[in-house]
Amino acid sequence: MSPALPDTTRALVARSTEGRKYAVAFEDLPLADLPRDEAGDVLVRISHSALNYKDALAITARAPIIRKFPMVLGIDLAGEVVESSSADFAPGDRVLVNGYGLSETLWGGYSQFQRLPARVVQKLPADFTAEQAMQIGTAGYTAMLCVMALTDHGLEPGRDAVLVTGATGGVGSVAVSLLARAGYHVTAVTGRPEQAGFLKDLGAAEVASRDDIDAGGRPMAREAWAGAVDVAGGKLLADVIAQTKYDGIVAACGMAGGGELNTTVYPFILRGVTLRGVDSVMVPMARRLRAWDRLAAELDRDLLAELSDTRDFADLPQLGADLLEGKLKGRIAIAL
Ligand SMILES: NC(=O)c1ccc[n+]([C@@H]2O[C@H](COP(=O)([O-])OP(=O)(O)OC[C@H]3O[C@@H](n4cnc5c(N)ncnc54)[C@H](OP(=O)(O)O)[C@@H]3O)[C@@H](O)[C@H]2O)c1
Repeated sequence: MSPALPDTTRALVARSTEGRKYAVAFEDLPLADLPRDEAGDVLVRISHSALNYKDALAITARAPIIRKFPMVLGIDLAGEVVESSSADFAPGDRVLVNGYGLSETLWGGYSQFQRLPARVVQKLPADFTAEQAMQIGTAGYTAMLCVMALTDHGLEPGRDAVLVTGATGGVGSVAVSLLARAGYHVTAVTGRPEQAGFLKDLGAAEVASRDDIDAGGRPMAREAWAGAVDVAGGKLLADVIAQTKYDGIVAACGMAGGGELNTTVYPFILRGVTLRGVDSVMVPMARRLRAWDRLAAELDRDLLAELSDTRDFADLPQLGADLLEGKLKGRIAIAL
């Protein structure tokens, strides 16, 4: 190991406990204990991670995200390679990881150093800093995967109106800014009407409440938008599908409002509506690279700064609770 490296790394670690689900605490882990991968791994000095909905669930033990203990939390990371046993990476490379089982089965990004299988690591696009990449994080990259679902379906800016739910959240705020900048007429749906100014600043043409798009329990209602990005699931997703236009598409990626979905087959067989599920965790590397290339080309850096904040590592336990209580908006990067 390089003499310039410390012996330990500060990390946010979950350990199983008797009687409780698990306990989360900061620990100093020996660098020598970071897991190795025989197929090739890289040791990354992490400068930034991110806070996502899934991170908040893991930090607060509100959902069974973690599959094995002990686990270093954090589903995202960005930093610099300091050691590599893989031909694909060399010390000094700027890299990032989103998902791929981090904080579930692989030790994650809430650590000043992490050793990762090379197969999950990608190079950071040249024109993003590590901080910007983590302000985007899994939420922003998922927003781009949803936008790609809409554009791959054939939606066109200028012609098609689109809708985004959970618009003040991480996925929603990035989706609003990407779609508005591309030239779509964007309706931002939010449970926080006091944030209308923020959403207009991101480019939303209209801001609607969740009640405004209530379809009255009907599986099909007046056709209103050609495409939608939904982070809510539950009743809101059923309302969104009911008002999607003929041949339109709904990209569903979240369950912030619930995991159930009560609708009928009619929007699908009478209007040809497509319900496209979007997962970010196990997306093949080629599509990840395409999503990050599009983020580099299409995401307005000023808007990214507008919708993002960077917070201290030590604040994570409180930030996890705050996110689930709806006290945060936009994206949060974590400085390690
Ligand atoms: N499929 C994937 O791979 C993937 C990747 C990333 C995220 N996700 C999922 O996407 C969702 C959003 O993630 P995020 O990081 O954007 O979280 P977030 O920053 O907490 O944003 C979620 C937003 O959803 C809205 N919301 C909250 N409770 C709601 C309710 N009961 N009904 C309707 N809307 C509600 C809120 O926006 P308003 O106050 O503006 O309404 C909130 O800001 C989560 O379910 C997350 O697990 C999935």
